[in-house]
This record gives sequence, structure tokens and C-alpha cells, in this order.
Amino acid sequence: MRLLLLSLLGLLSGCYYDNEQDLYPPAPGGCDTVAVSYNTEIVPIMNSRCVSCHSGGFPAGGLALNTHALVSGNIANIIDRIKRNPDDVLLMPQGAKLDPCSIQKIEAWARQGAPNN
Ligand code: HEC
Repeated sequence: MRLLLLSLLGLLSGCYYDNEQDLYPPAPGGCDTVAVSYNTEIVPIMNSRCVSCHSGGFPAGGLALNTHALVSGNIANIIDRIKRNPDDVLLMPQGAKLDPCSIQKIEAWARQGAPNN
């Protein structure tokens, strides 16, 4: 029983660091990364956390993030920046790392081919 419990705990915490959610259905209240939608899942993250700086005539870093073409075309750079350590000056957004589920969704969407869905 103890062994079972330990392996269950391992599975649950694994979801935060690995890609276990690709292999197992998400736990209730967990992070659903199966078939991530650009419009209903990625856009709200961008709008609430990135677009305030990354849009307009002079977007931060010369990079606007308000269209599918721009987000999908810069996805490797985006993933690099959102996964940096909290004390890294290159972390995006600076000093205010996204929650683990948002990061997992962006990575899963990229693996799924960054569709405009
Ligand atoms: C408070 C303003 C602000 C917010 C919010 C913000 N950024 Fe940035 N971002 C910047 C600035 C300023 C730069 C340029 C300096 C640098 O490269 O670190 C930048 C640079 C970048 C770059 C590198 C651009 C390049 O090609 O060199 C990426 C990628 C990026 N941001 C992604 C994001 C993502 C994704 C989010 C949301 C999760 C985000 N940023 C949120 C201000 C912001």
C-alpha cells in the first residue's frame, strides 16, 4: 500500500516537471495539455501576460505577440524565455514567471505543431 501511494505521488508530481500528461489523462483539476487550442488557451495567456508589452508600433524587443503567425513563428524563442529561472533577467515576463500549467500548455501546443486552431 505504501509503495502504491508513493508511486501515485510520483506520478502526480511528475506532471509538473515531465510530460507525463501526454501519457496519462489529466487528473481532475490537473493541467489538460491534450489538443491545446491556440484561440481558447494560448491567446488568453498571451493577452494577459505578454501583449501589453509585445504589441503596437514599438513592441518590446521588436517582437509583437498578437497574431498566430508571430507567436508560432517565434515559439522556440518564447519557450526559451518563459522557462528561464525566476532570477534570470531574460525570463519572460520579467520576474513574474508563468504558472506551470500555462508553460506546459504552450510547450504542448508547440509539440502539436503550433496549429491555428
Ligand atoms: C513588462 C513588459 C513585458 C512583458 C509583460 C513581456 N515581455 Fe517579453 N520582452 C520585454 C522586453 C523589454 C524585451 C527586450 C529585452 C530582452 O530581450 O529581454 C522582451 C523580449 C522578449 C523576447 C525576445 C525577443 C527577441 O527576439 O529578442 C521574447 C521571446 C519575449 N520577450 C517573450 C515574451 C513572452 C512570451 C511574454 C509573456 C509570457 C512576455 N515576453 C512578456 C518586455 C516584456
